[in-house]
Amino acid sequence: MKPRAKLLAIVGSQRVDGNSYFLAKTVLESAKADYEIIQLADKKIEFCNICEKCINSDCVLEDYFNNIFEKIKGADGIVFVLPKYIFVASKFVCFLERLATINHMRKHAGYEITFKNPEYRLFSGKKLSCIFVASGTGKVEKETLRIVAEYIEDLGLRLVRHDQQPFLGVSVKAGDAKGEILENKKGIENCKKLAEKLIDSITK
Ligand SMILES: Cc1cc2nc3c(=O)[nH]c(=O)nc-3n(C[C@H](O)[C@H](O)[C@H](O)COP(=O)(O)O)c2cc1C
Repeated sequence: MKPRAKLLAIVGSQRVDGNSYFLAKTVLESAKADYEIIQLADKKIEFCNICEKCINSDCVLEDYFNNIFEKIKGADGIVFVLPKYIFVASKFVCFLERLATINHMRKHAGYEITFKNPEYRLFSGKKLSCIFVASGTGKVEKETLRIVAEYIEDLGLRLVRHDQQPFLGVSVKAGDAKGEILENKKGIENCKKLAEKLIDSITK
């Protein structure tokens, strides 16, 4: 029997047990995979201070970042579950910036413009899918997706896409109240399909 895929969902909301978390939990509970969900909301994530030490070592800041970094390395597939907060929630941007800085430092051997290791990618080929949550008015495709897509490419993550618009992932409408997303049955089904596609891409 093939081993089950190990998925890691990173929930980018800034409130604990918000709609993004409920969505992640509902989708992953029914997935044929082992999974862990991390909520950035209750984790300490500092800003990068550009010390450049990550050229040769782990990040030296003492917060929860390295735990997540190790969990990403150990997972077969990653799911970003991101609420639209104007563009992207700032704590999630901070987290992405930390990953992107390590990537940059190793690719350029420091805070330089020249490429020392042009092919370097922190997570070369690791599979990722994205789920976006918005209260309804947001242009997720133009605003949230565009920003996240730049980071994904740079980090070498391989995006497993949805087959319907907005294609880079699934966009699910929720209200603002915690748990309201559970009323959007169609959105949840779409997310489950994407999760299946991600698992298939890992196990087949
Ligand atoms: C600061 C902030 C900005 C937001 N901006 C948008 C927006 O531009 N478009 C939109 O549709 N919803 C927007 N929302 C609504 C959230 O996407 C919505 O409340 C969602 O359910 C929050 O997910 P969460 O509970 O996982 O944090 C915003 C919410 C916050 C707190």
